[in-house]
Amino acid sequence: MIKTKLTEMLECKHPIIQAAMGPFYTTKLCAAVANAGAFGVVSHTNLRDLDPIKEMEKNILEVVDNTSGTFGVNIRTARLQIDYPELIKLIPRLRKENPKVREQLKLVITSAGDPRPAAHHFKTVDPDLIHFHVIPAKWLAVKAMNPAWFQKKNPGTKGDHIDGIVATGYEGGGHNSYEAVATTVLVAEMVDLCGDLPVVACGGFYDGKGLAGALGLGAVGIQMGTRFIATRECEFHEDYKALILPATDEDTLMTTGAFGPIRLLKNEYSKTHGAPVPDRQARMAQEQTLQAEDLLKEMESYELVYRGDVQKGPILVGQTVGGISDIPTVKEVIDRVMKEAEQRLRAVSKYVS
Ligand SMILES: Cc1cc2nc3c(=O)[nH]c(=O)nc-3n(C[C@H](O)[C@H](O)[C@H](O)COP(=O)(O)O)c2cc1C
Repeated sequence: MIKTKLTEMLECKHPIIQAAMGPFYTTKLCAAVANAGAFGVVSHTNLRDLDPIKEMEKNILEVVDNTSGTFGVNIRTARLQIDYPELIKLIPRLRKENPKVREQLKLVITSAGDPRPAAHHFKTVDPDLIHFHVIPAKWLAVKAMNPAWFQKKNPGTKGDHIDGIVATGYEGGGHNSYEAVATTVLVAEMVDLCGDLPVVACGGFYDGKGLAGALGLGAVGIQMGTRFIATRECEFHEDYKALILPATDEDTLMTTGAFGPIRLLKNEYSKTHGAPVPDRQARMAQEQTLQAEDLLKEMESYELVYRGDVQKGPILVGQTVGGISDIPTVKEVIDRVMKEAEQRLRAVSKYVS
């Protein structure tokens, strides 16, 4: 057993969070992860023609029906994500109305935008709800944790308005950063910067060596995305999963999308779409010109892959594809990671005299 501040806060057995992988569904995956003792996350699913608020509610209730474990949800708070203000209100409301949801839905992970409006709402109406934010760069952590802003809105509070950070480095799959900072560097920086605030390491993890290393860096646990796609319970298309097995760590590339940079598997789509903009300022300026229609267009291409067209659409995966060679059950993945991490931690502790 490995107990950390994360397992204590989230009331789960293992310090492993399953990463959000919207706009795809991770509802079955989330329940399977919770049933295996780790922490599942319901993704922000906004495939076209579906009401994202109703979908989120349906997905949360489905998870509650299929596990008694704790779990979380992701809300992307990007400028173009017009549904996010309603989603922020939905979670405390559901927790208030439904005692099972209150008992099991412990965490919201915001990402891809400013976490402060969400933090303000949660701390005002549902202070027991835990709120983590995804941080891909140090300057964003400083901004997200800005206590002066929070204290002004909430006089008398301590000011640390998010409860934890998911530090996501450049190796990671899907939504990524402009800054290109590797996970090892970012996690170490965040641990020094965050003080008591727990830091979850994300991007590049798929085994027990990674978990042991992250704990060594001072993180309270890891978050894994790509590793969980290649599992039996994950609802991604089988052709998507099959692409992961032969891929090497050189088979991904960074492109840009409506939410900023994304790491994709090399295919017809990624080689011809969204060449990366090396300069952060230029990319951010470009992003300001994007409209809701651009997001819709991107959603169309996501839907293609969700339905199985794995050549014409974007295959979001991380560099960890190089280390993944099977499609086991979720429980097998988690047990394997935990066993190896325990072995590594015991082995390295012998170095200390
Ligand atoms: C298919 C896919 C979809 C993703 N969608 C989201 C998302 O909706 N919100 C988000 O915050 N991150 C998203 N990400 C990023 C993951 O949450 C996580 O940071 C990443 O998978 C970690 O890297 P790994 O794949 O190496 O484990 C996505 C990643 C993948 C692979």
